[in-house]
Amino acid sequence: MKLQSVDLRVPDVEAAASFFAGVWGLAHVAGNRLRGTDSLPYLIGLEQGPPAIRAITFSGSNDEREIKGLEGETYRFVREQSVATLAADRDRPIRLSHVVLNSADVDTAERFATAQLGFRVSDRTRHMTFLRCNRTHHCIAYARAGFPSLNHVAFEMADVDGVMRGIGRLRDAGYPCVWGPGRHGPGNNVFGYFVGPHGGLIEYTSEVSEAGDDYKVGSPEDWKWPAGRIDQWGVSQKDTARTNAAERAFTWSSR
Ligand SMILES: [Fe+2]
Repeated sequence: MKLQSVDLRVPDVEAAASFFAGVWGLAHVAGNRLRGTDSLPYLIGLEQGPPAIRAITFSGSNDEREIKGLEGETYRFVREQSVATLAADRDRPIRLSHVVLNSADVDTAERFATAQLGFRVSDRTRHMTFLRCNRTHHCIAYARAGFPSLNHVAFEMADVDGVMRGIGRLRDAGYPCVWGPGRHGPGNNVFGYFVGPHGGLIEYTSEVSEAGDDYKVGSPEDWKWPAGRIDQWGVSQKDTARTNAAERAFTWSSR
């Protein structure tokens, strides 16, 4: 099983699509969908309307089903569909890395994701629970926010160089990095966050760690930062006014 795609409703499909297919580095496919260089048919689906998240889709299921979460989420499971890969390019996202959802009740969301979606917990911090659907440390995480919404969508780049080049490219295009560069605790991945023209928070990431069956689930006690730190490197700047707004811009659509 792997994370395939996120479907969003955005106020201006054309503007969002041209951003994702332009400076962000995805490629257009039919039907307002955008793909990465890997073999998945699409990563981001767009439809016109007030900002909303429509569905998160996982590929590689034995059957096709849709599951409603307890806070209005829609999880889709589809059989694996492979398309021809595109040429590897360190300036283009390969696939989605993970999706983080804000939640009013992270503990209940975690129980739902393990019991109903079949995911496994990798780590719990004071703020978040990280879950995996394969050997990658997390494909989804739930953040303790007090309300449900889309926190962010992360795109996997080939390496740290791809993330750093992306930060420069986005800055030149008028989208400054709102958090990063830095290296996270759980997952050990390098990151840079941006607010796209659609108003949502998006991340370039690389080097996310693997977690096998013997992975010891970390607890909030294991994931404490020293005073003044919010990432491993200790150099990242976070524009919390902008990230906070972007993390609550997309709520679950009931239809
Ligand atoms: Fe992330």
